[in-house]
Formats: sequence, C-alpha cells, structure tokens
Amino acid sequence: MSVPASYIDLSETVRYGVVDGIAVVVLANPPVNGLSNHMRIGMDAGIRKGMDDPAVKAIVLTGDPAGKGFCGGADLRQLNTAAGREGPSIHDMFDYIASAPKAVVAAIHGFALGGGLETALGCHFRIAEKNANLGLPEANLGLLPGGGGTQRLPRLIGAVPAMDMMLTAAPVNGERGAELGIVEASFTGDPIEAGVAWALQNAVGVSDLPVVANNPVPDADSVDLAAAHAAIRPNARNGRAQHAIINCVEGAINATTFADGMAVEQREFRELVASPEAAALQYQFFAEKEAAKVIGLSKETALRPVNSLAVIGAGTMGGGIAMVFANAGIPVTLIEQGAEQLERGVSIIKGNYEATAAKGRLSAEQVATRVGLITPTLELEAAKDADLIIEAVFEDLEVKKELFTKLDAIAKPGAILATNTSRLDIDQIAAVTSRPQDVIGLHFFSPANVMKLLEVVRADKTADDVIATSMKLAQKVGKIAVLARICDGFIGNRMLSPYVREAHFLLEEGASPQQLDGALQAFGLAMGPIAMGDLAGLDVAAAGRRRQRELLPSGVRFSKVADIVVDAGRLGQKTGAGFYKYEAGNRKPIPDPEVEQIIEKCAADAGITRRAITDEEIVEREMLALVNEGAKLLDEGIAQRASDIDVIYTNGYGFPAYRGGPMHWASQQGLDVVLEKIKKLREVHGEYFWTPAPLIERLVAEGKTTF
Ligand code: NAI
Repeated sequence: MSVPASYIDLSETVRYGVVDGIAVVVLANPPVNGLSNHMRIGMDAGIRKGMDDPAVKAIVLTGDPAGKGFCGGADLRQLNTAAGREGPSIHDMFDYIASAPKAVVAAIHGFALGGGLETALGCHFRIAEKNANLGLPEANLGLLPGGGGTQRLPRLIGAVPAMDMMLTAAPVNGERGAELGIVEASFTGDPIEAGVAWALQNAVGVSDLPVVANNPVPDADSVDLAAAHAAIRPNARNGRAQHAIINCVEGAINATTFADGMAVEQREFRELVASPEAAALQYQFFAEKEAAKVIGLSKETALRPVNSLAVIGAGTMGGGIAMVFANAGIPVTLIEQGAEQLERGVSIIKGNYEATAAKGRLSAEQVATRVGLITPTLELEAAKDADLIIEAVFEDLEVKKELFTKLDAIAKPGAILATNTSRLDIDQIAAVTSRPQDVIGLHFFSPANVMKLLEVVRADKTADDVIATSMKLAQKVGKIAVLARICDGFIGNRMLSPYVREAHFLLEEGASPQQLDGALQAFGLAMGPIAMGDLAGLDVAAAGRRRQRELLPSGVRFSKVADIVVDAGRLGQKTGAGFYKYEAGNRKPIPDPEVEQIIEKCAADAGITRRAITDEEIVEREMLALVNEGAKLLDEGIAQRASDIDVIYTNGYGFPAYRGGPMHWASQQGLDVVLEKIKKLREVHGEYFWTPAPLIERLVAEGKTTF
C-alpha cells in the first residue's frame, strides 16, 4: 500500500487526506521518518487542519504504509544543524493535542522508537501493528528520552515496566505493547486502514479524551527507586544515563504538575547531552557503522556464497566458532584429529547450549536444531564441500602450514580458507597454497560464541571479494568485524604487548597486582591486565615474550616477572595459581604473598628501588602505551582508522564503551597533552619504549589535537 494520490502535501515529508470523516496525517521521511524540521512542520499543520475542519471527526497520525515504520526518533542528518532547531517543537504540539477537542490516534506500523514513541504518547490513543517495535532506546547512546518519554510512559503503564523498558533500552512488540497498555490495541495490515477503522469505532465523539500527561503514576507506592539505582553495575556502559532515567521517574512520581516532571527530565537531559559518556557512546555507535566499510573496496564487489562451513580443531576456539555459525542456521562440519578431543569438543558445545536452555533463553527444539547443524568428524576430507573453512588448530606456524597444504588439495575451487591465528604471519600460511587470494584471517575472540568482535585480517594477496564476503558474513552472524592487515598480533594483541609490558614494569616499580588491576577496573575496564593474563594462561604468552625479548637490543629493560611466575608452576586460573591464587571452582583472584616476594626479588635483581605508585600513574601509563602503539598501527596502515581501533578495544578487550576507546580517550585529552606526557615518560624510561609515534608528532605539529 502507498499513500492515496488524492492526499495533499503539507510539507516536504508530510501528506494529508480525509477518509470517511477521519483526517489522516501521513509521515513520509525515509528511511525512518526522523523528526526533521519539515516533519514537525507538516505534522503540526496536519493536526491543526483536522481540528479546524468541521467535517473531520478525528485525526489519525501514521507512517507511510510503503515506508519502514511510524517514526524512528530524531533525524540524525539534522543533528546539531540549524534546520534541526527550526519549526514547531514537539512539546508545543503535545500541549496543543492535550487541550484539543477531537481525538488524535497514532497508528503505528514497523516501529515507534525514541522520539517516535514519544510522539505517539503525546496523542490521545495509540494502536500498533502486532510486530511493530515500540521502545525508548536512548540509554544505548548514553541519553534519556527527552521528549517527555520519561514522564509519559510511567504515567501510562506504571513506573516499574516503564523503567524496565527505558533502562534496558529494549523494544517490545505491538502485541506486548497492548498487554502493557502502551497501545489500546494491536492490528495487522495497512496502518491507514487500521487507523481509520479504529478511530471511527473508538475515537469519534469521545467527550473526555485521555491525556497521558494528566495521569498520576499508577504504581507510585510500590516502586523501589533506591533498589533500581543499586542494581546498576558500577561499570555499566551506560550507567550514567540509567541513573538519570531513574531520577526522571522519581521526578514523575513526585511532581505536582506535569510541568514539574518535565523540568526534571529537561535538566537531566541537558546534563547527559553534555556528558563525556554520552559523547563516547555516540562516537562508538558511529564507529561501529564505519568499521564495516572497507576503504578502497567497491560497494558492488560481488560476494561469494557461504552456505556451508568446515571448522578445523574442536578446542576452545573451534567449538565456539562452530556455535556462532550454527546459531545463524549455517551447517558446520567440525573436524578434529583425535577422537577424544572431538568428543570433548562436542560435549562442551552441547553443555553450553544446555546451560543457555536452562536459563530459559533457548527452547529444547532450538538446542536440538543447533546441535543438529554441527556434524563432527575425524575426516579432513569432509571439508571438500565447504564454502568457508576456518582453521582453529594449535598456534604453531608449521602445524598450520601443513594443514593448509592439505586443505589446498581438498577444498573446492573458490572456497574461502580462513585461519583463526592470533599472531602468526598469514602470508606465510597463504604461501603454501596454490590460491593465496582465497586465504584470510578470521580472528575470533574467546569465548567465540559470546564475544562480538571479529578481526578480519587481510593478507597480502587476499582477494577483494574474500574480504567483502568476510565482512558481510560477520554481520550476518552477529559479529562486529574490523579489518586489519598483518603484523605480529594484528591490531588488538599488538597493542596489548606494550600494555602488558608496562603492567609488569609497574609491578617491579612498586605496584601490587591488585592495585594495578584495581586502578584499571576503577577506570572502567572489565578486567585488569594481570588478572587477564591469569585467565588466558601465562604459558600461552610465554612464546610471544621470548620472541619479543630476542628482538630487544642489549641493555634494554625486560621484566622477567611473568616467566618466574610460570617457572614456579603458576600458569594462571587453570592451575589454581598465577599472579593470584584461586580457590577450586572460583575465578575470584586472591592476592598471594608468594607473588609479592617474586616481584620484590625481580625488582631487586634488576636494581629497581620500589616506590609508591599512584592509581593515576597506572592508568595514564597503560593508556599511553595503548595509544602510542595504536598510532603506529594507523601510520603503518594495519588499522584503517582510529575509530576501528576503539571498536576493537571496546568489543574485544573489555575497554569501557563510555570512554569511547583508547584513541578517543587520547583525543579527549588532546594529542598535544598526550605527546608531552609520552615525552616525559621517555625522559624517565628511555627512548626504546617511549619514542612518540611519528603520527602523533605530525598531528600535533599540524596543530591537530585529535586523531
Ligand atoms: P586448543 O588447543 O583449545 O584447540 C586446538 C584443537 O585443534 C585441539 O583440539 C587439537 O586436537 C586440534 N588440532 C590440532 N591440529 C589439528 C589438525 N591438524 N586437524 C584437526 N584438528 C587439529 O586451541 P585454541 O585455544 O582453540 O586455539 C586455536 C587457535 O585459535 C590458535 O591459533 C589460537 O592462537 C587461536 N586463538 C585462540 C584464542 C584463545 O583465547 N584461546 C583467541 C583467539 C584465537
């Protein structure tokens, strides 16, 4: 259905017609009917026109049936523009509707999100298509619904369900919306027809039109606001916005007049908009969109079909990767070399699915379907029909080369051959095949079925369509893909090297593991580097440490602390002790005096006099280590853009999204300040580790303060 030709234009994006005595105001501002100036002008004009026409009995506000939905909120194209501030405000329009004599009915199809749902809440009645998404997702961007949503939704459905919707930022469908009382009824079919029919039956001649703003909050006595505040995790990505939303709901409950409540909302909104947390979350939002774009790759690049998969290695990573694809409905052949390993791998997969089902997040049928999509086998030959083969065997170049030689003989022409290596040179792996153009790195993060990040690593000869297919496929299976080029550790792990190096130096200089991790957790990281090492296994990084040590010129400082901890048989959580000790079955790190002694001895052997170290120094040195390396990666073309690095850190390394990422952090400090601090570190700790990245020097010389 589309808008009937008889409708007239009220503005660039709003049409108007009258059907059976019901005025229909149609919003048509693709792609999402964002509330631009012309949308507000047209909407306001349409509602007034209907009110002024004696032949009109009620007014329906709806989205173009041919469009995607009712309204998706603010028009992002007009964010911070003069046009965005033009035209009537939605608040004035809501006030007008509140005192108007005829009913205004919002008929919602597709979605009413953010300002879109707030617009519907400003109408007298609402109906929604059964599958339409109704929600106030502002908290996702570190904001709150500032169009009266925090005041009207609690008054309409109660503070408890309203708070739940706003704090989780999760939409409900039209059917659920009707149960909650957000809408009067749900419908199927054309929104104009449904709106007109509903209005004729329910909205004509109603003398006492309902106005949400006039309601008290129905469950005001049973809301526990203190508990709601307390339930927000200290490091929640949008914690600040969540607290502000609860304050607004409190405002709604305590308000004498609706305007009192609105004043609270406006105050909280203004504070949030100006907050660094909101800026960082919005930056992240756009950064993730940007990361999907491959510079220099034509949008028309044809994709290769990926309808079947083989995963080689059923260990920690292979099992998780198989689940990622089975979850998306793609059949996976899971190939192992040993029967015992295969059996263990499959039983872990089943265990994971069953645990999810036990939490009520999967049905028994879904578990059976997903497990059924994974075919375990010991035959490498079984990879011959796969469109994509992902290797996740031991991190050993020779093992991988041997495997890729075999795969080259087995895989069908055009199959994509991927490796999940974390650090190895993919060019060398590609070189053993007769088809290096088909070889790529798909670096998943552990646990692969949970972590959102995927580093897509292009090798020297990787074909464009292999890159494009990998980026698109990642999206299809719910991952956030970031493109990298080859170097030791690619983007994320290469930056981790100086970060962990500084952590170990700081231990020697006077910090304890718990102080170091505590300072970074207080900064917002999910986990500090020392606890992270224990989780990953300190032996895992040993080879990398050895390699790096061999590259060091003589006389350059090297911390032996991790190696000595490993030599003491402390490999991390898996052996019950690493830098911390662990009780059986418990992942909580417990400080261990034995490790303190190891650290003190290391420091003494290296001639270091330990001193008191502030949390501030810990955070700053760790951030600067990340930033300096990140800048080098950018300069070397390993990363496409600074924001890609931030997407990697927030989605793969537990970096707090509300700080935007290490590169965003640096831009907020100002690159001139960052450069000065790096130079100071160079004075104290020498130029080998702290020579400023040339890119930072260049940008500062050009007068730039951000990446
Ligand atoms: P793992 O040791 O848990 O599993 C490897 C599995 O591969 C073993 O079950 C082994 O039997 C099997 N395997 C070895 N050679 C094989 C062959 N020729 N054919 C079939 N199966 C073979 O190792 P994990 O941790 O799963 O690592 C796999 C790869 O993923 C490595 O390259 C690693 O660097 C990478 N990776 C690991 C991450 C982690 O956190 N564990 C994170 C990201 C990447």
